[in-house]
Amino acid sequence: MGGRRRRAQPPPRRRAPNRAQPRRPDADPASRCTRQGGKAVVPLPAGKVLVVKNGGGYCAVSNRCPHLGLPLVGKTALFQGEVKGGCITCPAHGTVFSLETGAVEGEWCPKLPNLPIIGKGPKEAPLPVFKSRVVDGMVEVDA
Ligand code: FES
Repeated sequence: MGGRRRRAQPPPRRRAPNRAQPRRPDADPASRCTRQGGKAVVPLPAGKVLVVKNGGGYCAVSNRCPHLGLPLVGKTALFQGEVKGGCITCPAHGTVFSLETGAVEGEWCPKLPNLPIIGKGPKEAPLPVFKSRVVDGMVEVDA
């Protein structure tokens, strides 16, 4: 006896990547985006992320349009952004964003009139894009 007691230190925590994979395996975005242009909205700590099957892989972008923060893919049939040619069109005001880079392709808010003084609202901004990869058939997103 008389020896000093030491507390075992827990192993250092490693930050696990955010997997865009929910608890139910059938709800995995990869399984919901099997066809070209297929979409899945996944809640992650960074916010709702939209995973889209694009070309041979998947793209992960913010589901909030940088114009007014409206969803690119919502719960109703009216709020379903169209995916075409590697881009997604905001269902609200028609801004087209590249799924690879998030850059605005074409006119900013073509469905909105250019109002005096305020123009078309907030300045043109790209859609946030997240790195993603497929690991063991699951889409992993750095968000
Ligand atoms: S909310 Fe998307 S373009 Fe206006």
